[in-house]
Amino acid sequence: MAQNSGGGRLPPGRGSAARDGRRRGPLHSEGGDFFETAPDGADAYLLGHIVHDWDDARAGLILDNLRRAMPAGAKLLLVEYVLPEGDGAWFGKLLDVHMMAVTGGLERTAAEYRQLFAAHGFRLTRVVPTAGDISVIEGVPA
Ligand SMILES: C[S@@+](CC[C@H](N)C(=O)[O-])C[C@H]1O[C@@H](n2cnc3c(N)ncnc32)[C@H](O)[C@@H]1O
Repeated sequence: MAQNSGGGRLPPGRGSAARDGRRRGPLHSEGGDFFETAPDGADAYLLGHIVHDWDDARAGLILDNLRRAMPAGAKLLLVEYVLPEGDGAWFGKLLDVHMMAVTGGLERTAAEYRQLFAAHGFRLTRVVPTAGDISVIEGVPA
């Protein structure tokens, strides 16, 4: 059982698909605590709005577990708001303050994601913007 600083408790393997490790086409669903483990052998690992919940130390634990579980050719894909450099106003900066107050997490710049990846065995390969404010941050095992 894990608990974040926002107080949300996560029962391991909540939901039958997560409990059963069910496969649906190429997708595989598996429950667990991302501070303890990660599913091994996947082609890609997609984390939507996960890493921004955590400071660098806790985010690093998640990345370490993914790095151990990932095959050499796999991709790490984070869906997050990527802060622009500079002092201009931007929605993600408001969310950065919110994350700091609510979860102890933070929004990061591309350079900060690159640094976080590098510290945990990944190389940031690209940041892909979307039609909205979020981006996909792609990494591969270094
Ligand atoms: C901000 S939500 C993002 C949810 C979803 N991926 C999305 O993009 O809407 C963070 C998620 O992390 C999950 N979570 C929190 N601590 C966890 C842990 N230790 N292991 C696995 N999942 C956890 C929460 O249950 C929640 O679903």
